[in-house]
Amino acid sequence: MLIRVEIPVDAAGIAKLLRQAFPTKAESDLVHHLREDGLITLGVVATDDDGGVVGYAAFSPVMVNGEDRQWVGLAPLAVAEAYRGKELGKALIYEGLDSLNEFSYAAVTVLGDANYYSALGFKPASDFNLHSENKGLDANATLLIYPLIEETLNDVSGLVAYSAPFEQCAK
Ligand SMILES: CC(C)(COP(=O)(O)OP(=O)(O)OC[C@H]1O[C@@H](n2cnc3c(N)ncnc32)[C@H](O)[C@@H]1OP(=O)(O)O)[C@@H](O)C(=O)NCCC(=O)NCCS
Repeated sequence: MLIRVEIPVDAAGIAKLLRQAFPTKAESDLVHHLREDGLITLGVVATDDDGGVVGYAAFSPVMVNGEDRQWVGLAPLAVAEAYRGKELGKALIYEGLDSLNEFSYAAVTVLGDANYYSALGFKPASDFNLHSENKGLDANATLLIYPLIEETLNDVSGLVAYSAPFEQCAK
């Protein structure tokens, strides 16, 4: 198992994984549009011994009250069924957080399951009076945040907005 940054040749494997991991092709379409629009800040893949993609995490820019504060949103996250429950999801997220931290990004947001992401150190965004109008692809999702630079949460509240492809693909 190898966890590394996405490269162009991974695109087909990522699309296949996303179509298998989610009920519809919305997430696969989302990544396609994000990539076309140059909005993938970081993509992390897990590959098996044959180089096949078995895990993926994408990070793309989010705006805070219309302002670029060097925050990114994690979405989508997927692990192939046969590889689940082995902390691969966690490893993909932590690899992403490490790299983003190295490149001085300030925070990572996610719209997802509160229990899963809280266990990984994400905090409910509502603690900081942050919310998201864009429910992304999951109407039941909670907005959570992982600060990479603690001060980024000082004097901030309001709307966390995902990029246009999220609106398009959620329809
Ligand atoms: C979510 C997903 C990426 C987790 O991958 P993984 O490699 O199994 O994750 P980890 O091994 O790091 O963590 C597994 C733990 O998270 C829990 N978990 C997995 N998916 C979850 C979800 N959607 N909501 C809540 N908890 C979840 C599991 O119950 C497990 O907990 P346990 O070890 O106490 O049993 C994988 O299940 C997946 O691809 N699901 C389909 C796509 C999806 O729903 N992605 C969005 C996630 S918000």
